[in-house]
Order: sequence, then structure tokens, then C-alpha cells
Amino acid sequence: MPHVLTAAELPVEDLLRRADSWRQRLTENPTPSVQPRAAIVALLFYEPSTRTRAAFEQACVLLGYHPLSITAEASSIAKGESLQDTVRTLNAQDVQAIVIRHPQAGAPHIAAQVSDAPILNAGDGAHEHPTQALLDLYTLWLHYGKPDPASRWLSGRKIAIVGDIRHSRVARSNLTLLTRAGAEVWLCAPPALLPDAPLPNAHTTHNAEEAVRNADVVMALRLQTERMAQGLLPSLNAYRRDYQIHAERLRLVKPHCVVMHPGPIQRGVEISDEVADGAQSLILTQVRNGVYVRAAALEYALYESEPS
Ligand code: NCD
Repeated sequence: MPHVLTAAELPVEDLLRRADSWRQRLTENPTPSVQPRAAIVALLFYEPSTRTRAAFEQACVLLGYHPLSITAEASSIAKGESLQDTVRTLNAQDVQAIVIRHPQAGAPHIAAQVSDAPILNAGDGAHEHPTQALLDLYTLWLHYGKPDPASRWLSGRKIAIVGDIRHSRVARSNLTLLTRAGAEVWLCAPPALLPDAPLPNAHTTHNAEEAVRNADVVMALRLQTERMAQGLLPSLNAYRRDYQIHAERLRLVKPHCVVMHPGPIQRGVEISDEVADGAQSLILTQVRNGVYVRAAALEYALYESEPS
């Protein structure tokens, strides 16, 4: 069964093309009429989410499925039900797919072991966020004019990911897809916000200037305070001074450099207002593309064998 658990196992080429066909369809008609099915896709969110959940909900609607949003606070999860039992319960009610966001790394894999329906990982702890990485890749693919997705089309491009790498599932999944497409990826954070073991295939630095110098893409990340042990970051002001993506720091980048952020952004912390809202920012394009990519991922998981 085609689960969507990690970035490495995604059929990237197929998903980029599917996402692009959703973009074209929805650009022609933003409110298509859809034949509804008498079937449900469960969105099981054990952590807060705005854009990921809204995009998956819209993806369900586009495919004619009813999205059933289940949050930890308002379900039997709050009564101590295990993840496995929640998944078995949803299977017994014939849900066609289950989208899971969970604070623990590996939770979607555990769900996949007991599920009759495909599982889509919408972010597990500091581990993986495959559909976010895919939407980031799709955003760059469009930006660079849809090069052959089977080629190393990001080769020669320097991509700086700056922020709380240690707790970021977005950084990990992105690293997989960006390097596979040939990019040179730089990870930049203060020492306490880098992983204990260096991540493979990436350059690592504590110096934001070194990271962004001659970059084609700068991706800022939020400080994931909900996953952070106390005292990891002694001074927010020092963090702003040394790592914030602001106009001054962007003087070092390549002329056509673009700025990305998975959201939610903390204005004035990891990114300045001016940059977040500026001409180089692809942040809202990423959000929009998130809908196309979730529609593509859900379609793939539900009908893997059908041609796109
Ligand atoms: C990210 C997440 O939840 O992993 N957001 C998202 O899905 N767009 C990043 C974050 O929370 O900072």
C-alpha cells in the first residue's frame, strides 16, 4: 500500500507532475464542481496546524472525499486511547486514508503497521515532513521553469537553511529532496540548534553570513520552542542579531535569490517583516502550492496504480 511516510521514498517526479496538473486545473477554475463520494479521509492531528491541515482538507474536497478532522483534545486520544487503537477504529469505519501529525518521531510508521488504509505523514516530531519538502521542491521547480524533474536540476544552486535545524522535520525532509535534485545545501544555526550528529550531504555552519553568501535560495525556519529543552537559547536578541534573515544580510546573496519559509513565521525573530513581505519572498506561493501538492500526494496514496 502506498503510504507517504518519508521524503526519500516519494515518487518525486510523478508527484511534481501530478501537483502541476492540479495547479493548472485550479488556475483554470478555482472552484471546480466535484462529484462527492460517500467516503472519508481522516486527518488525525496530535499537534497544532494551520496550513498543512487546511491544505489536506482542501485536497480531500478536491478528490471528492469528506475530510474528517480529529484533534487530540477533542477525541478518545484525550481518554488515553493508543495511536494503534485509534487507527484500528478508523479502519473499522472504512476511512480511505489517514493523515497524521504527531509530536513523536516514527508515529506514522507505527500507524502504518496496523492500518488497512494508506497513512500520510503530516509531520512527526523532529523527524520528517515529506509533503512540506515536496511543496518546497515544487515551488522551486516552478520558479526555475519546470526543468526535467529526473535530472539534477538544482545542480549549481546553493540553498541555505537557516534557523532551528535541530528540531526541524522540514529541514530533514528538505535536505533529502534538495540534495537528490543536485543542490548544495547549507544548514546554519547556533551550535545548540544543530543536531548532535551532522546530517548527511550538507554543509554546516554557525555563521549566517557564510551560509547566505552567494545563495540562490534562503529558507528561514522558526524556533521550535515547543520541542526545545529550556535554556537551549539563552538570548533571543543574540539570535536575532546573528541569524535573522533581514535585508542587510540578504545583500550577500546571488542577485535572483528567493526567500522561503514553511510557516508559521515569527515576524521579527527568524525573518524581518521587510523580507517576509518583500519581492524575493515565496512564502505565500509555498502555501498555495501546498494545496496542489497535498492533492497530488493524496491522489497517489489513494489510487497509486491510476495514471495521473
Ligand atoms: C512546520 C511544521 O509544523 O513542521 N510548519 C508547517 O507544516 N508548515 C514548521 C514549523 O512548525 O515551524
